[in-house]
Amino acid sequence: MAARLDWSGKSDAFALAENGKASALLCDEQKTEALALSLASQEPVVLVGDNLNGLHILANSGLQYHFIYIDPPYNSGQQFSYFDKHGSSLKNDLSEDAWLTMMTPRMILAKKILREDGVMFISIDEREVGALTLLLREIFGRENHIGTLKWKKKRKSSFLDKHLGNVIEYILIFAKDAKKFPRLLGEKSKDITRPVLNASNQIVERILPAGTTAKARDGKYSAGPRKNKTLEAEFLQDFEIRNGKLVSDVPVRGRFRISQDKLSQTVFITPKLGLRRHVLAEELARKHASDDCTNWPTNEDGEQELRKVFGERVFDYPKPAGMLCQLLDMCQFQPNEEILCLDFFAGSASLAEAVVLQNNKDGIQRSFTLIQNTEPNLTGSRFATIADLTIERSRVSLQNQNKMSNLKVYFIKEK
Ligand SMILES: C[S@@+](CC[C@H](N)C(=O)[O-])C[C@H]1O[C@@H](n2cnc3c(N)ncnc32)[C@H](O)[C@@H]1O
Repeated sequence: MAARLDWSGKSDAFALAENGKASALLCDEQKTEALALSLASQEPVVLVGDNLNGLHILANSGLQYHFIYIDPPYNSGQQFSYFDKHGSSLKNDLSEDAWLTMMTPRMILAKKILREDGVMFISIDEREVGALTLLLREIFGRENHIGTLKWKKKRKSSFLDKHLGNVIEYILIFAKDAKKFPRLLGEKSKDITRPVLNASNQIVERILPAGTTAKARDGKYSAGPRKNKTLEAEFLQDFEIRNGKLVSDVPVRGRFRISQDKLSQTVFITPKLGLRRHVLAEELARKHASDDCTNWPTNEDGEQELRKVFGERVFDYPKPAGMLCQLLDMCQFQPNEEILCLDFFAGSASLAEAVVLQNNKDGIQRSFTLIQNTEPNLTGSRFATIADLTIERSRVSLQNQNKMSNLKVYFIKEK
């Protein structure tokens, strides 16, 4: 039997995903008019209010998302100011039970609004990565846990860290259905040449074919070993380079890592008579993504991005849009359809900026929905609530989008 979490309030937490289906409405800013979430237009949207209500509204609307990213509160000892009315008995509770009770219905609803081939990425740190992984495996199924990315949030640990410097965070990846989810792709290789020798390979003989490109000076050279950094290949015959090409076939011995066939197609002689090869077009194709994301943009980059837009500190610990661009880029859905992206713990709207940046870069059409409550913004900046910031950054981001689209803002009202 799979490992399961148990906590006080678990059954109530699961029930919250069912209850409250009809307890919220979408309204205009004056909260007078009930609005229908438009299904036809896939315009970017910000929903202002509690995300449990927001998720119920999305689930009722029938919208289905390709891509969900969330960065929920990490249960780091801060007050759960976001706690919904259904969980009010746990209001001042900072325990793991309370946190799991908050997360559970939201995760169930998130799964519900994912498309069959959709995926959800969830940022979390070392404090709750264990509990959250088990909870999500229970909700999504263990087989749909695609993996966990390791992301470096800062370059150096802080001397304030008590026992251990924490620089790594995690991004859990859950597919609605791993069998239908397209493979995650890594970055395109930027190297256009590669070594042909490798210290741990066997010594073998190969032929350098006549006509091989040579970057060394034209001339006649004697047989013997030639070093390429620390590895050497032994030319078994004298040879000549004329007009930048090898004049006749030359046998060579060395710790070759590639076949004769590939060598013949790609090898060249370096200016110092070493051997290297060109990379074939098919090798430049994108490969599997890796879980090592330690060279992605960091929290510091996120702060700088936001300061660049507003000229002051408007939010603590925004995620870098550059990191979210990497996640968007990893997911290759069917071309020619608009990709719907959602962040229901939106904060400073870094997903809005990432969607615009990535659309401009690769020409794929993505749209976003953000949900953010009206929690006060404690940075003392011009934005009194975090939702004010979410809306403004979304608007500013859209102004930079090649293809213009307008932001729609809806307010969630309790019935
Ligand atoms: C860790 S922050 C996310 C930061 C965001 N990823 C960014 O890059 O700016 C979590 C956000 O979720 C919001 N939030 C927490 N509980 C919420 C709830 N129940 N409904 C809507 N928003 C909530 C908080 O106000 C906060 O802005």
